[in-house]
This record gives sequence, structure tokens and C-alpha cells, in this order.
Amino acid sequence: MGLLVELTHRCPLQCPYCSNPLELLRAHEELDTETWLRVLDEAAALGVLQVHFSGGEPTVRHDLAALVRRSAERGLYTNLITSGVLLDEDRLAELVAAGLDHVQLSFQDVEEANAERIGGMPGAQAKKLAAAALVRRAGLALTLNFVIHRQNMEHLPAMIALGLELGAERIEVAHVQYYGWGLVNRDRLLPSRDQLEAATAEVEAARRRLKGRMVIDYVPPDYYAERPKACMGGWGRRFINITPAGKALPCHAAETLPGVAFPSVRDEPLAEIWRSAPAFELYRGTQWMAEPCRSCDRREIDWGGCRCQALALTGDAGNTDPACALSPHHQVLLAAIGDADRATRSDFVYRRIGARPTVEA
Ligand code: SF4
Ligand code: FES
Repeated sequence: MGLLVELTHRCPLQCPYCSNPLELLRAHEELDTETWLRVLDEAAALGVLQVHFSGGEPTVRHDLAALVRRSAERGLYTNLITSGVLLDEDRLAELVAAGLDHVQLSFQDVEEANAERIGGMPGAQAKKLAAAALVRRAGLALTLNFVIHRQNMEHLPAMIALGLELGAERIEVAHVQYYGWGLVNRDRLLPSRDQLEAATAEVEAARRRLKGRMVIDYVPPDYYAERPKACMGGWGRRFINITPAGKALPCHAAETLPGVAFPSVRDEPLAEIWRSAPAFELYRGTQWMAEPCRSCDRREIDWGGCRCQALALTGDAGNTDPACALSPHHQVLLAAIGDADRATRSDFVYRRIGARPTVEA
């Protein structure tokens, strides 16, 4: 269904919950334009419907418009996932002319000082607001993305109001996912149960109030769940993620799995990777499952949850996701909630190229 194109790890922001790996790639390691164009051709031939240009910040790549154009020519729906801070009128016009369909614009908060503290970039908020106005003026579909956590959740009503004010068709309210940088900063980010319940109630009320005007997507946190989400819609079922260096992954955190050789689009055609690469077969379907998943009636609904979370929290990617209350490791999540409730630190470990932090969790 979707190709997630991580064009680069370079980014002017330094969000402490970034989904990129702790080991960030540098510019000279990135795929060149010709290779990306070939990958887009191969994706269209394979039957992929949507291409999501992401990063890092994808607009740092000067060939972005060429990649959007090729995608549009091949009939792919194009989505730009951006912080907006490098998006000016000329750049957006170039992307619109190339056939861009949709922009997903991230905000770290509505409150300027806090937003810029979380993103680690002074002056970012005004640039984002300007970018949103440009996107609307250009007539593109706009989604605002808010990643929420204990240090910005109380502003959720204002986030929803900002979505309306900026004319977004959709806002995505997503709790932090705790792997990679999010796991490093987990004690500073994980909300309390009271905060979570207030946010969920706020979203439900806003959905009723704004029905037909604005869609609100809400991604609840695994840590308070009884059952896990179907991460990526299941391993190797819907998405291919391509890293800036060309590795093809079933999800953005897959490279954390030890001993798994992920294929590169530099060496193999995308169709071959999708259909038969051992790394994509590894947790595809249900054959790999042990109990309790193996005999569970939800095994083809959540596909056993998230492999990367199982690895990060239990040491074995083949275990049931500890977000599931049936997992023998569910206790590790409950302990993490207790730790976060007792934690007092609000300073972040920021995402930086070349600074590989240790995971305290
Ligand atoms: Fe999902 Fe496995 Fe839990 Fe069943 S036991 S709900 S399949 S994670
Ligand atoms: Fe890798 Fe969920 S992030 S399976």
C-alpha cells in the first residue's frame, strides 16, 4: 500500500522522540537521485499506491521535486511529511507543479516557547505557521501532526483549535512511540494515566463537535493498552520503509533487530525484496508466533503487535509485544509507567547526528 521514503536523516529540528534510529546517517551516505527515481518506478510497477516522502526533513534534498514529479507521473499518491521550517513560497510552488498531493505538517506544541524547546529550534513555530498558510493557499490537502506527551498534553484543546484555524482537513494526535529516541527520553515523555484519560476524552468530544469539518486521527499509547496495535499493519503486509542509505525495512525501527540482514535497493529490485527477502518473511503472517499469540483469536488482527518494541523491552523480537496484557512480559510496561510517574526531569536528550545516546530505560 505505501512506500515510506526516508530521503535523509538531516533535519534542522532535534525532537527527542524522533522515529529515526539512534545512529543517524550523514549526507554522503544517502542514495542519489537516479537510484531514488528507479525505486519509485519499481514501486509503481509493484502496485504501491502511496509514497510518503519523509526524513529527517525531506525538503533538505534538492531533488525532492524531481522525485515527486516521477511519482506523480507513475500514478502514485504523494505525501510530504515535513516540519515546514524550510518550506517557502518558491519551494512549495515547485512541489505543487511537480504534482504533490498532500502535506503533513508537524507541530511540537501550540505554545511557541514550549514548541521550540521540544523541537530544539528557535524560530521554528513562526515558520511552521507560515508554511501551513502557504499549503492552504496552494490548495493542497493539509494534515497537522501533533505528537503528544506529558510536556505538552495540556494544550490539546488549543492544538485542535489551531487545526481549525489553519484550515486543516485532518489532524493527527499521536502519542510518542517508545523506541529509539523516544525510549531514551521515556521518563520525560510518558504521560500519567490521568493525562491520558483527559486527552482521550478531549479527542472524543472534539470528534463529535467537528464531525464533517475536520477529521481527528488519534493514536493511543501502547503503555496503557490491554492489547497492542497492529504495528505497520503487520510485518511485511502493507509498507516498505527505505532508509536514506537504501536499506529496505518492514518498519522504521527494524534495523535495531540484531543479526537480521536487510536488503538494499541499491542491489535488488523492490519487487524481489517485497516478495521474497528473508527479512520481510521473518515475522510475516502468523507462522513465527509462539504462545500466547499462536492460539489467540486476535493474531490476524494485531499480528502480535510490534517486533521492535518486543525486542527493546524483552530482549527478543520474537516475543509477544509486552503491550499485550496476555504477554508474560506485560509487567515491564507497568513498571515503566511507575518510573515515569516518579521521574522529575524535564530536560531532553536531543536527537543529533553523531551523538549516540545510551538508553537509560
Ligand atoms: Fe495480539 Fe498476541 Fe496479545 Fe493475542 S496474545 S492479543 S495475538 S499480541
Ligand atoms: Fe518495528 Fe513496530 S516499529 S515492528
